[in-house]
Amino acid sequence: MRAPAAKRITNQDLFALRWQRGRRDLIGPLTRLYGGQIDPEELLDRLRDLLTKHWTARPADLRRLDLERDLNPDWFLGQDMVAYVFYIDRFVGRLDHLPSHIDYLADLGVTYAHMMPCLKPRPGPSDGGYAVMDYRQINPALGTMADFQKSNLMLRASGISPCIDMVLNHTAKEHEWAVKARGGDPFYQAFYRMFDDDRLPRQYEQTLVEIFPTQAPGNFTYYDDIGKWVWTTFNEYQWDLNWENPEVFLAVLDTILFLANKGVEVFRLDAVAFMWKRMGTGCQNLPEVHDILQALTQATRVAAPAVIHKAEAIVGPTDLVPYLGTGSHAGRESQLAYHNNLMVQFWSSLAARDTRLMTHVLRTHFPESFRRACFATYIRCHDDIGWAITEEDAAHIPPMTGPGHRGFLAEFYTGRFPGSFARGADFQSNPATGDRRTNGSFASLAGLEAAGHAEDPQAVDLAIRRILMGHALIASFGGIPLIYMGDELGLMNDYSYADDPVLADDSRWMQRPAMDWSKADTRHDVSTPHGRIYQGVRHIMATRKGALQLASDIPTRVVDCGNSAVFCYQRLGDDRQVTCLANFTEEIQQVALDLPEGAIDLLTGQPPERAGAHVVLGPYANLWLRA
Ligand code: GLC
Repeated sequence: MRAPAAKRITNQDLFALRWQRGRRDLIGPLTRLYGGQIDPEELLDRLRDLLTKHWTARPADLRRLDLERDLNPDWFLGQDMVAYVFYIDRFVGRLDHLPSHIDYLADLGVTYAHMMPCLKPRPGPSDGGYAVMDYRQINPALGTMADFQKSNLMLRASGISPCIDMVLNHTAKEHEWAVKARGGDPFYQAFYRMFDDDRLPRQYEQTLVEIFPTQAPGNFTYYDDIGKWVWTTFNEYQWDLNWENPEVFLAVLDTILFLANKGVEVFRLDAVAFMWKRMGTGCQNLPEVHDILQALTQATRVAAPAVIHKAEAIVGPTDLVPYLGTGSHAGRESQLAYHNNLMVQFWSSLAARDTRLMTHVLRTHFPESFRRACFATYIRCHDDIGWAITEEDAAHIPPMTGPGHRGFLAEFYTGRFPGSFARGADFQSNPATGDRRTNGSFASLAGLEAAGHAEDPQAVDLAIRRILMGHALIASFGGIPLIYMGDELGLMNDYSYADDPVLADDSRWMQRPAMDWSKADTRHDVSTPHGRIYQGVRHIMATRKGALQLASDIPTRVVDCGNSAVFCYQRLGDDRQVTCLANFTEEIQQVALDLPEGAIDLLTGQPPERAGAHVVLGPYANLWLRA
């Protein structure tokens, strides 16, 4: 008998193999979510058709990338990963100008470019583009879909993965689905959460929080013309989608895969915590959300395996961890999630000059590593800072209390607290709950604005050190560091939004300044604050890339180093661990460390300064000590 002739593997074969793999991880979540309404086999058939359609349309170069990442699914966990987050208009004006600025990103070491909302928004106020009217069109003010594809190609050719926002908790009320729903089409009315009277909305409100209590109080809006209440968690013009409807799952996935075929490699899934609602709960972080996210990730992995998902859930520690996959979701849910707790704890330790709360929170609530997933680490982003510190955690550091410490941080970062170096502003203060959030750019919150006004060179120096300490923290803690546009140059608060009627009621625009290219062009001059910051950030990222121990799949262990001014964590690579220290004060600090002879600080390439059995850290210094 002769062996059957070897057959060439076709694209259909690849699809069939991936479907076989994905089906296993799809059936559970889809049955739990939708089994009550539709026969799961029928839903899987429809899903398979949808995935086949997009796989068939997938450009050959992206299919090649798919294969590469099937073979190396850990690609995003490497220590070489560095992300840059920017608004296209505020960075370069329009999409077709982006390619000529790739060299700037490359110089910083960027491998992942998050282009802030760039799909067609509703006209007028659009929550910074998070009220999308058409997910299949680029915002005409930025360019066309052809420009988008072209710039994605150029980014990829430079080793940079394009990332965009996928807003899936809500659409703009001007989106085609919402327009049809408003016009009375029952199929599309079932895409949203609509109510004939206020009985249920009132009942839900009893356990809901308000996201924008000042500018958009409440979670429901009444529309006279249709005689219905609509669930609107954020602004009135953002209608919450009804994820209990399997048609919504299929329609959103269809959009994701359409955009994946235009060259998107990372989807930032916006406001995912809110996707599922249940009476009597806060309607955030419900278990079904994790089923939805697993199903979206696994379906994407069948038709576009090069693509990964980043969950945006800005929630407390115990709610955050599951977004990276725990229990039956381990290794199957979103590959990335924002580490807002690291961010909050950075600011908390900086104001208090005390890292005990940070050590407690990051050691107690977070695992040392995840399965095929990691955090996106950041210090600032386009949003406000919510002081997510629980009563229980605060109680660990007596006499600290939750409300007391949150109030202190809000006071400190507006600059009202006596002696504060920060210049920020309150956001959405809610007298009913006492909640106060904070706006401000990294540099302004870290002291550069106040120091500059005072023309105090020593204060400027300390502010720069704080900024670099934060960047060194996110570059070494484990996860992909996100550099928020302008922070690499120390750009400060931009107060001009107040003069723009479309932006004026949202003070988050304060931390969204336009790129300052005159500073960028002189970034090599280290006698200027912006040059020192830029070169510092660049050096930190380059050092990260050279240290295998800083890869995101290497466990991170937070340790108490015995000096409350210093935050300490170890990266537990099997080959030569790295111990990282960060001094959160303007004083020189010492830490008792059992360091073998010959240990070096990766950041300087030199042995650390020692005083007997102690290592010495200068003001706001970081040490990355490799044995
Ligand atoms: C996310 C965005 C924020 C927006 C909200 C509603 O949290 O980061 O800017 O307001 O979602 O879409």
